[in-house]
Amino acid sequence: MSGIVGYIGKRNALPILLDSLDKLDYRGYDSAGIAVSNQHQIEMKKTIGRVKDLRNLLLREPIIQGNLGIGHTRWATHGVPSVINSHPLTGCTDQFFVVHNGIIENFLYLRKQLSLKGHVFATETDTEVIPHLLEEYNTGNLEETVRKALPLLKGSFALAIMSNDEPDRIIAVSQDNPLVLGFGKDESFLASDIPALLPYTREIHPIKNGEIAILTPGKVIMKDLHGEVQEVERNFVEWNNQDVLLSNHEHYMLKEIFEQPKAIEDTLQGRIGENEILLPELDDFLSKEKIKSIKKIDFVANGTSYHAGMIGKKIMEQLVGLPVEVSFSSEFRYDHGPLDENNLVIFISQSGETADTLSALREAKKFRCLVIAITNTTGSTISRKADYTLYTKAGPELAVPATKAYTAQITASILLAMWLTQKGEFMGTPMIPELISSLNRLKSDVESTLIMTQDAIDQFAQVTFDQEHIFLMGRGLDYVLALEGALKLQEVAYLHADAYAAGEMKHGTMALITPGVPVIALATQEHLVEKTISNIKEVKARDAFVVGITTVRDELLYEEVDHVMYIPSTHSFLMPILAAIPLQLLAYYSGTVRGHDVDRPRNLAKSLTVE
Ligand code: F6R
Repeated sequence: MSGIVGYIGKRNALPILLDSLDKLDYRGYDSAGIAVSNQHQIEMKKTIGRVKDLRNLLLREPIIQGNLGIGHTRWATHGVPSVINSHPLTGCTDQFFVVHNGIIENFLYLRKQLSLKGHVFATETDTEVIPHLLEEYNTGNLEETVRKALPLLKGSFALAIMSNDEPDRIIAVSQDNPLVLGFGKDESFLASDIPALLPYTREIHPIKNGEIAILTPGKVIMKDLHGEVQEVERNFVEWNNQDVLLSNHEHYMLKEIFEQPKAIEDTLQGRIGENEILLPELDDFLSKEKIKSIKKIDFVANGTSYHAGMIGKKIMEQLVGLPVEVSFSSEFRYDHGPLDENNLVIFISQSGETADTLSALREAKKFRCLVIAITNTTGSTISRKADYTLYTKAGPELAVPATKAYTAQITASILLAMWLTQKGEFMGTPMIPELISSLNRLKSDVESTLIMTQDAIDQFAQVTFDQEHIFLMGRGLDYVLALEGALKLQEVAYLHADAYAAGEMKHGTMALITPGVPVIALATQEHLVEKTISNIKEVKARDAFVVGITTVRDELLYEEVDHVMYIPSTHSFLMPILAAIPLQLLAYYSGTVRGHDVDRPRNLAKSLTVE
């Protein structure tokens, strides 16, 4: 799991490569490297650490100036983070320079075969087989050589390749792994993700399986594996460079938490009519008859997106009245119940590139299920593979911890559930008008929540600075939210945070409650507040320090907890969107007070393109 960049044009390549790598830092930050060509000679520099360490290295040891080059920021999978294992990688000689994202699944076999032919391997990586293979099949023509070597590679990979035989070009390929071409005036760019392209262009072509992009100064030619010329698309991206600037924020995570009112407004934009949800393109895909034939619905996703799916499941069930399941993509891929064309499977992925989710999607397609994707990324692989894509409009999310993407995913799942309900005339139809009016107030409720909770959460994070354990509890949708809150605290604050269905604490976990241990009690589901209060009494009786999160309408919780935080009250289905905000803020402030890099938590990366 790594980030790839490339540039070819008239400008000095180095600053562009480094700036683009900075934007992809969230995909990996174990090591970084670049190769630059002056059209006669290619030179390479690599280091362990982040892109800023590469910048420092280049100040001490400048590289040749040139107007084309490739770069890489690595999240180690095969081989420890080290200079030798970092990319670009070369073979026995410095003939080919390769940057790679993904996994070459048959690398052990290839390594053995190539070793028998005399190739000597220097690294522990799967990637190194590629430059050796290119050496083995070298015809002196880079494009031809790549075409010969490619069919031997198994797995998922995005590659950018340069050769000393033709140091005036870059070849880029992608197999089930994201790699996007960007077009400027007489210049072209490559990146694993769109944000890295935005300072330079908004015209893109996501490279697809079987395409080989040949980038020469001022020109890009696309061919297939047989050498036939293909059309180069020029898609326009809605995001712009402003969206990816940190501006006056200290961290992307906080910036993105505060972008939630806009993310939700944009996700709802144009999709709410007077009395109905408008998803016109979905009308073409799902007729009323087809909807009536659906027997079961599945949500499938990973991590935070999985938690959005859990919320989606509970709401979908209540509106549509069909059985709904939710699964981790990494499990669904190998283990699912019976599937056929009467199953609707909804895949949720911010990046649209998560390998587990893409594999699970392929599995659902094998069984001819109806497939809908909810994603934030235009042109992502998931959007190309699904029958229909419902885009969240959260804008680019650059912090590794997902925040605005999550609440936008819940919003989109609710829109989809409402649309299916009205079109299929399911049992939740009478709930639609009230939900619509709550959705119309959602942006301002989110704004109020940010204002109401920020300072109190900051203070709570400061006083729990020395705690190592924290528990979260809730019932129904609040339980799902507790799971997401715990994930955020683990990820950002490195706290041992655990979430429990409130009624389950007494069945075992209560043994862990010691005097002073912080417990966050979520009680935002009006019909469950009294039951949750009984469970709060149980932990209070063991002297836990309890912070309650509830709505301004609630008068009961105040008496029962050490501290209460109020958030606005809205339709119970939308409460998880509001209640997520104090939990995100808690993770942020708990992480910063502990001195962690909240945008780049240790051992984690965004957009996991390896299974
Ligand atoms: C946690 C987080 C991850 C992602 C997960 C899925 O804050 O961001 O758990 O939610 O890796 O990623 P996507 O949504 O891109 O498929």
